Amino acid sequence: MIRKIVFGTPFDTEAVTGSFQEWEGEVPYLKEEGGRKFSYRMEENDVVYGLGENVRGINKRGWLYESKCSDDPKHSEEKHSLYAAHNFLIVDGAEHFGVFVDYPGMVTFDVGYTDIDMLTIEAKEADLALYIIESEAGEGESISENIVKQFRALIGRSYIPPKWAFGYGQSRWSYMDEDEIREVVKAHREAGIPLDAVYLDIDYMERYKDFTVNEETFPNLADFAAEMRKQGIHLVPIIDAGVKIEDGYDVYEEGMEHGYFCKKEDGKEFVAGVWPGRVHFPDMLNADARRWFGRKYKVLLDQGIDGFWNDMNEPAIFYSEENLQNVFNKLGEFRSENLDLEKFFRFQGMVDGLANNAKDYEMFYHEHKDGRVRHDKVHNLFGYNMTRAAGEAFEELEPDRRILMFSRSSYIGMHRYGGIWTGDNLSWWSHILLNLRMMPSLNMCGILYTGADLGGFGADCTEDLLMRWLALGLFTPLMRNHAAMGTRKQEAYRFTKTESFQKIIGLRYVLLPYIYSEFMKAALKGDMYFRPLSFVYPEDTFARRVEDQLMVGESIMIAPVYEQNAKGRYVYLPERMKLVRFFGSEKESEEILEKGHHYIDVALDEVVFFIRPDHLVPVSAGGCCVEKVDFSNLKLLGFVEKEASYELYDDDGYSRDYDNPANRTRVCMDKDGKVTVWGEGRTFTAV
Ligand code: GLC
Repeated sequence: MIRKIVFGTPFDTEAVTGSFQEWEGEVPYLKEEGGRKFSYRMEENDVVYGLGENVRGINKRGWLYESKCSDDPKHSEEKHSLYAAHNFLIVDGAEHFGVFVDYPGMVTFDVGYTDIDMLTIEAKEADLALYIIESEAGEGESISENIVKQFRALIGRSYIPPKWAFGYGQSRWSYMDEDEIREVVKAHREAGIPLDAVYLDIDYMERYKDFTVNEETFPNLADFAAEMRKQGIHLVPIIDAGVKIEDGYDVYEEGMEHGYFCKKEDGKEFVAGVWPGRVHFPDMLNADARRWFGRKYKVLLDQGIDGFWNDMNEPAIFYSEENLQNVFNKLGEFRSENLDLEKFFRFQGMVDGLANNAKDYEMFYHEHKDGRVRHDKVHNLFGYNMTRAAGEAFEELEPDRRILMFSRSSYIGMHRYGGIWTGDNLSWWSHILLNLRMMPSLNMCGILYTGADLGGFGADCTEDLLMRWLALGLFTPLMRNHAAMGTRKQEAYRFTKTESFQKIIGLRYVLLPYIYSEFMKAALKGDMYFRPLSFVYPEDTFARRVEDQLMVGESIMIAPVYEQNAKGRYVYLPERMKLVRFFGSEKESEEILEKGHHYIDVALDEVVFFIRPDHLVPVSAGGCCVEKVDFSNLKLLGFVEKEASYELYDDDGYSRDYDNPANRTRVCMDKDGKVTVWGEGRTFTAV
């Protein structure tokens, strides 16, 4: 059951599309103060899940989190927010319930930070909608799973990308021209490392102007995209939120003519500095502006592009015109000063304080259907609505074809239009673990198509780091290696052990029938693709403590290695499972392990996972790209003690006919390896 309690006059975020019960009585579970502050006393063993993209653990206890979409490239423990605002959490303990705070401005979640036993949720203003979700758990479903399922029904079906977007992608900020990209593709193909996509970062544009292409370095994008398609490669360009101010640039001129950019109180367009220098922000909360911006993607769709990533849409602000002038004026005053400790820090702070300055977000406005609203009050909706602009345009422009879309910034609701990537992480071992921990929290919020920059975005990557990270990344729906300009080049083929990369990345394609099927079933049913162990084994008190293993779909548990020079790791098995070792596309060995704690050796170039009893994993023979993977002749890995059954979801991967019953095939295997299939056109062989 979902109860909605309204305080004041909430802004209509359009996050919710499903049904609920209007509730006029007291807020269940939480103590309410003034319609904007809600608290709950936690018992010692209560676990708090959720908050989507964020720092720290799967269990969010012990820290203060803020919903404030921020362009912050340092995802270290002391941070309070990253690029997104995902105001959903679950309390699992003495009482068990879910909370969604639908409020587009700043919200803090003090989960035992001020007082170790208190959970306090505080919104900036008392204009919000609170949804409290109580479980109606049924057979075969835990309370947490059921709460998530109800929440997902409330917020609508998750975005589904094309099948090719489940292939491996290579990206780097600083692929400067066509030849450099040809080289990247060739090197992957020559090394036998599968590849489906190359990402075009800001350098493909003409001086960072959205929906333009640099004609010197990419003289004919349509021809180049077609040439790449012949090699099984999709090009995926980036789109930034800010539109460069430049006479003669059509996007700028049209936006000005129709008044589609965000304005200041005096009615003049707000000027911010981002990659192209001075830009205006399209008013993503204004339906007309959104439609206009969305239709601009056609410029690239028409050139054979079928995927995009939306960036800098918190929106990131390097400086505002006003603050920049102010700082220039003030810096001059320091010229004749003796810069002592206090003055030097003040001097330095003035320049550092230019970027993403809270005051700047109070300077511009949106023209929303319900009236004019100051940006900071609805800050967390910007990235969501930029991606919605694209998503709605794709439905109109490309009704028969799925388009890849993922965004950096998001709010709940955006999951209907695109996935997310987790932004500018670093080539740090701790960021493998952070990647793992974020995945189930994001799934709870409806964000299923997601992944991190594998190998790490900032800092220099090492060969072992990339291998270990890929061994996790091969299970994430978005599997992309991305790095920042100026860092060590980290395409897999640049390192020495080519064969190991071939095998680890190759395994993604072997597992693709399972990964795609599990993703699609989760998206269509409102389930999670990645689950914490405790969601599957709610009675197991130790499973609640596990922060470095995940359930992937219905059959697999993973326990990646995330420490340098480790030769293996401790793994907790909540039940008897089959350990499967893969060295390449062939299964190397399997072993039945009993419930409990085990130390498992895992060589650097090895991927291991665990299959639950009476569960199956359909696998393919692999391929160099998704379209070469044969989904009709599959092998079945399984741990069958009595009998196991699996429903395989598969479709053409491009159209939107998701609910067609022909997309589902049921297969059964008994303990002697006898396979029975219900459905046409597919063979399964036990291995
Ligand atoms: C931002 C993005 C990053 C991208 C860079 C240049 O930092 O998060 O992925 O490479 O901008 O466009």
